[in-house]
Amino acid sequence: MEDGLARLQAMVEEEMRRTYSEAAIDHAMNPRNMGRLKDADGWARYTGPCGDTMEIWIRTSSDEIEEARFFTDGCGTSMASGSMVTELATGKSIDEALEIGQEDVLDALGGLPEENEHCALLAATTLKLAIGDYLSRLREPWKKDYDRR
Ligand code: FES
Repeated sequence: MEDGLARLQAMVEEEMRRTYSEAAIDHAMNPRNMGRLKDADGWARYTGPCGDTMEIWIRTSSDEIEEARFFTDGCGTSMASGSMVTELATGKSIDEALEIGQEDVLDALGGLPEENEHCALLAATTLKLAIGDYLSRLREPWKKDYDRR
């Protein structure tokens, strides 16, 4: 029985390696920066056309993203994409982080199968919205006082 399970697991892992890059598997299995960020300066929740949702929180310092965290209820590749987009954003200026797009996430993950490419778009879009939230709070700082997230 245990031999059968071990063989089955090996087959699943082999199939996964044929489909996904090492980086994508690593970020899906060991996601970085996952979980809510308390006292964030920017936050967004976005649901993509596939129905999966991602949230991203950012903390800034001197117009730079000091910390970025995410959560998703989506698939493994959305997990990998959220992990990678928060890694890419950390340490970037706001302007640089706004430039991060779907292709950057895909490149950093070593690509994704075509049917999963939208997961990278979900992550890049959520990051942009979180930065947009940060920028709108700069204009209307009192909003943070009413934040119930
Ligand atoms: Fe929807 Fe991956 S399938 S984000």
